[in-house]
Amino acid sequence: MIPPQTVAQIIDAADIEDVVGNFVDLKPRGSNRIGLCPFHNEKTPSFSVSPSKGIYKCFGCGKAGSAVNFLMEHEKYTYPEALRWLGERYNIEIQEIESKEGKEQKKARDSLFLINEFARDYFIQNLMESDEGRKIGLSYFKERGYREEIIKKFELGYAMDSFEALTNTASDKSYNLDLLLKLGLIKQKETRKYDFFRGRVMFPIHNLSGKVLAFAGRVLKKDPKAAKYVNSPESDIYNKSAVLYGMFQARRAIREQDRCLLVEGYTDVLSLFQAGIENAVASSGTSLTVDQIRLINRFTPNVTMLYDGDSAGVKAALRGVDLILEQGLNVRIAQLPDGEDPDSYVRKVGAARMQEYLSNDSKDFILFKANLLLKEAEGDPIKKAGVVNSIVESISLIPDPIKRSIYIKECSSLLDVSEEAIANASNKQRSNKRKKRQQSVAAPTEQPSPTAEAVKAVILPENPNAAAKVVDRGIQVVERELLEVLIRFGHTALGESEEKVADILRKTLDQFPPKAPLYLSLYELYTKEMDEGRYREEGFFFHHQESLISKIAVDVCDVRADVSENWEKKHRIFTPKEEEKLDKRVMDLVNRYRLLCLQDLKAEKEAEMMRIHKEDPTSDEIRLLMGQCQQISTWISELSNSYGTVIHRERK
Ligand code: UTP
Ligand code: MN
Repeated sequence: MIPPQTVAQIIDAADIEDVVGNFVDLKPRGSNRIGLCPFHNEKTPSFSVSPSKGIYKCFGCGKAGSAVNFLMEHEKYTYPEALRWLGERYNIEIQEIESKEGKEQKKARDSLFLINEFARDYFIQNLMESDEGRKIGLSYFKERGYREEIIKKFELGYAMDSFEALTNTASDKSYNLDLLLKLGLIKQKETRKYDFFRGRVMFPIHNLSGKVLAFAGRVLKKDPKAAKYVNSPESDIYNKSAVLYGMFQARRAIREQDRCLLVEGYTDVLSLFQAGIENAVASSGTSLTVDQIRLINRFTPNVTMLYDGDSAGVKAALRGVDLILEQGLNVRIAQLPDGEDPDSYVRKVGAARMQEYLSNDSKDFILFKANLLLKEAEGDPIKKAGVVNSIVESISLIPDPIKRSIYIKECSSLLDVSEEAIANASNKQRSNKRKKRQQSVAAPTEQPSPTAEAVKAVILPENPNAAAKVVDRGIQVVERELLEVLIRFGHTALGESEEKVADILRKTLDQFPPKAPLYLSLYELYTKEMDEGRYREEGFFFHHQESLISKIAVDVCDVRADVSENWEKKHRIFTPKEEEKLDKRVMDLVNRYRLLCLQDLKAEKEAEMMRIHKEDPTSDEIRLLMGQCQQISTWISELSNSYGTVIHRERK
């Protein structure tokens, strides 16, 4: 955990213009900076950064928040990851609060990374500088057509054809050989330690921040007994099933293109990258795991699987896909011609043709599967029933009901079975699954940090009525302004009584809580933070850990994109006036809001009256409600008289 004072320090130091400027070309406009929004496609800039407020906002797509949120959204960092990024950039040392065990664990992991770093550099040096490495390793890569920049980018290396090259070098440099053993870089037979990777070209496997987790080594000699690839074993830093090869290098392109290409091999990733197709990662020949799918899902929900043409490859792909569908990702599949893998194919046809192939010849997975199975079942009705079931099984895995219904429609015409029949079968499968899940022993659930959980509970009220209720736009506009004033001027004392703006507004808002669910959540959070003494200033929510909160806060406090230089000057001049006029604004707002709420309440009572009247015109409740309506009307006219505004009697 990062201590709160460090978090505050980091947030203070974060320069939004500098942070965003790393990823977006910004130009000054008035007191703000503007640029093309990195979160949606646009030709004219509607993405605005306010250095003074430390926030960004896009007027096109509505994305908004602080520097931390920007990194979370743009780089798909978690909250602590974003803070660490900023800490590094602004030279703020982060001393994480950890249990003693945690600290030791981290230290142990760090030293393992250090060893891998040493081994990586050693392998690179072999490849580039030693005679053996250049003659055997480098020439092999050159033969396969890899340019130097790709070799460097992926940090490829070479392990000498020797039992002691790495062992001795590590020992000479006084690295702890036990750690090399732990990482599987060396092995031990009785007392003799020896190199594990020998005479192989080396592929480091990176984590998301580029640290080396493990290695894969490809054999060069034609030795039928040797495995083509050998890998580091799992270790305290390498969990094979949670890693995808090439993710570190591909993450940017995956995000930019909103699509991830999934291939089988290391060399497929390299060749595609070299051909300018930079969004590919490899499952490294094993079947895909849920962790790997979740990793992809941090960057994009769209996956294209590129598989060998031979039917074994396709069958393997079909197995992995159901898992992907279940996680809610969209899967396309591109089947390469027989005997080709992406590496051989891109070398054969070139980058342009490969791109074309990917965009034209990839097929939606479910339709692909349906076609493939149908072909196999041609003319055999019993087999065909099996095909239908198998397709329904895939469809029923898709969490999104709208997507499901689209597939049901398409598969209905493809399989020549009625939509209704497919929908019924799919519903049945889903309910069977649900039952099974309920029966199975309660699985240990992930425990997200309690603060985030608590905040979520505030943000998303479980009450479905509250969320479903369509809130009158007129009220929403006023609610929004109330929150703006609350957040910006809550601490300001007004008039002779020196009553705080927050206290004045809260009297009304506690009586008539905001009706729009998001505003209600923000209000509840505000009061909670205020009461517990944490809330201090306008910026508080801008930097909130929950991006939804900071987004609404930024939104509510409306950072203008279109302000001119002039406005900036004007703004400075008018700022004191804005506060001067604050008491009028507050009273005005409160009155307007109370009026709207009362009118709303009256409409509600009248509707109820109508309903009861229909059921039982003699009901006593009608009298009661009538009295209440009368009372509300009186309040409304009193309020509008003193407030001096013309009020429409009936809101339609
Ligand atoms: P392939 O045999 O298709 O190799 O295995 P490749 O990637 O095309 O390699 P080149 O082009 O011959 O150099 C696909 C992937 O399966 C894993 C590796 O991740 C490989 O990239 N694999 C394969 C192993 O882990 N061990 C093996 O012995 C073979
Ligand atoms: Mn290959």
